[in-house]
Amino acid sequence: MKKWSESRAPAGRYAYVNGRYLRHGEACVHVEDRGLQLGEAIYEVCNLRHGRLIDEEPHLDRMERSLREIAVAMPLSRAALKSVMRELIARNRIKDGLLYIQVSRGAAKRDHVPPANMGRPTLIITLRPQDLAGLEKRMAQGVAVSTQPDIRWGRRDIKTTNLLPNVMAKVAAKKKGAFEAWLVEGGKITEGSSTNAWIVTADGEIVTRDLSSAILAGVTRKLILEAAAEAQMKVSERAFTLEEAKSAREAFISSATGACVPVVTIDDAPVGDGRPGPLTRRLGTLYARKTGLEG
Ligand code: PDD
Repeated sequence: MKKWSESRAPAGRYAYVNGRYLRHGEACVHVEDRGLQLGEAIYEVCNLRHGRLIDEEPHLDRMERSLREIAVAMPLSRAALKSVMRELIARNRIKDGLLYIQVSRGAAKRDHVPPANMGRPTLIITLRPQDLAGLEKRMAQGVAVSTQPDIRWGRRDIKTTNLLPNVMAKVAAKKKGAFEAWLVEGGKITEGSSTNAWIVTADGEIVTRDLSSAILAGVTRKLILEAAAEAQMKVSERAFTLEEAKSAREAFISSATGACVPVVTIDDAPVGDGRPGPLTRRLGTLYARKTGLEG
């Protein structure tokens, strides 16, 4: 059997683990890492475009918040973390990619309660090239979403690596030929399995779920809202029903891996005329300008 490094990662890729830059296929953590055994870990995904990290500060703000919520210390100061991120980008020679940061409480003998003398947190950073052609196609053609029950826990505001329900929902959606799952709770859409969910109503109101522990406070969501407000577009942060979504004029999803990706069908029924909508495009352009995504 081929090794991971040979089969999946292009030669020369590096990952960072606890102070060391290692070949991607050889980078590893302790078998008793609490992130691995107990899921006691949080993460961030940041878009790297034209060699620049997009929305870097708000991603690091959210990372610090997630860590505070699970009472794990920042593994490095923000300045040190930023210089490690830059070094990893330089070593990988990637200009357009996705940077992944994960922090767990660290390694210790398995016990639900961490020991009093817990060592340092485990910090992992990886970087991979982004499939820009795939993203361009999704932006141009739009994607299908399939609704799935939201069976996640009560603290979805924490960006935890405990993604089993998200994974199951996205796999179920994929089986139905969809790109993303829209999660439904009490007849209302919370968010996507790895994206925030948006609709544009028949009277042109842009709607996305309000912030609470029911959803992740998406960084891309926040910047899109700011861009919309600056352009004096009509925006409302509130819960919306599946029925509203199905009768929406436009719909889209947002995340660091794709801001304003048009949704053209929900459970196989067309949204609006079944093509990417003009307000979605406009918001995508405003976001790109605001964040420097355009270059
Ligand atoms: N997902 N909601 C969920 C459940 C997410 O996992 C994500 C991000 C978002 C969008 O957040 P942001 O705009 O900050 O990327 C919303 C990342 C990309 C992932 O899990 O790969």
